[in-house]
Amino acid sequence: MDQAETLRNIGGHWLQEEIPPVPSPVDKKETPLKEASPQATTPVALPPEPVSPPEAAVVEEEPSPSVDDQEAQEATPSKIRVLSVTSGKGGMGKTNIVANLAIAFAKMGKRVLILDADLALGNIDVLFGVLPKFTLEDVLLGHKTLPEVIMEGPCGIRILPTSSGTEGMAELSDDQKLTLFSQLDSLDKSFDIFLIDTAAGISSNVLYFNAAAQEIIVVASSEPTSLTDAYAVIKVLSKRYQEKRFRLLVNMVHNESDAVAVFRKLTMVADRYLNVAIDYAGYIPYDDYLKIAVSRQKAVVDLYPNAKSSQTFTRVAHQILQWPIDPHPKGSTQFFWRTLLTPAQVSSPSL
Ligand SMILES: Nc1ncnc2c1ncn2[C@@H]1O[C@H](COP(=O)(O)OP(=O)(O)OP(=O)(O)O)[C@@H](O)[C@H]1O
Ligand SMILES: [Mg+2]
Repeated sequence: MDQAETLRNIGGHWLQEEIPPVPSPVDKKETPLKEASPQATTPVALPPEPVSPPEAAVVEEEPSPSVDDQEAQEATPSKIRVLSVTSGKGGMGKTNIVANLAIAFAKMGKRVLILDADLALGNIDVLFGVLPKFTLEDVLLGHKTLPEVIMEGPCGIRILPTSSGTEGMAELSDDQKLTLFSQLDSLDKSFDIFLIDTAAGISSNVLYFNAAAQEIIVVASSEPTSLTDAYAVIKVLSKRYQEKRFRLLVNMVHNESDAVAVFRKLTMVADRYLNVAIDYAGYIPYDDYLKIAVSRQKAVVDLYPNAKSSQTFTRVAHQILQWPIDPHPKGSTQFFWRTLLTPAQVSSPSL
């Protein structure tokens, strides 16, 4: 059986499985009505220095962190994590995942920068109700400095908008790149977590951002096409960019066992046809509160911290902090920017 047939069979089998029940109406007993924190909509001068060390902030925000959480914090005091969130199929929840993980990390005392790598379709900026005036391209062209382009979002997170022109970064002169690197390198000291919200699919722009990240989080749901498209993105990243490790975050499922079923189906095919490791990164349930939050241009973790999706976002954020930081060069933002700014050395496509 070839891989296409295997995928088709999985899809067919999937369709025959019991369809998860329609999500129950909003739980009236839930007490989610914490007001969103005010947010600025203008560019900010400088990324902030933390008011207190992340460890102290965690103790303040989370009255009884588990031993595991404390160990995770202690194990990773200052190294930046560069995480991209991607999916083969559009609308799988990437932007919501980036936004909510960002706020969950911020509430744990982490300094977070979001790279909105899908500005063309208006993602993070729309979700947070902020309006970017400038993008990374303005920095690359020398029109603006990084601090002028980085915007402030809720809970002190920072947002760096990109534009479709970002792909042309590889064409900068060596002098321009050096000037830019010196600005970008300062980001390592200013942030603990760097989250990249990519566009869906396997366009070169998307692949570029993913290949430059330290960890690639692939988002999929229980829809069969979501599985096949997630497989496609993993395949192309492994074949063209030699990416060998991925994390799967399952979104919009009914419960954890549905999420694990999605994970098993994907790994079954990937184990057979691709030389990659896919780790289960958790799940986010389908949640009407998330939809309400989207309609109010807020992240659900911020607006409804007790909603079921908010609780899982917080859990996933805690788990991410326990992922080992790769000592490999990909662990730094320097690697990230240099990869973006240097013409890619990719293998010929073999999809
Ligand atoms: N866990 C969830 N529960 C309920 N609805 C969800 C959930 N996650 C996402 N959605 C819905 O899916 C929509 C699309 O989500 P989002 O914009 O985050 O996806 P995306 O992958 O970033 O899309 P695109 O590929 O267009 O960038 C949201 O507006 C929301 O209505
Ligand atoms: Mg999006």
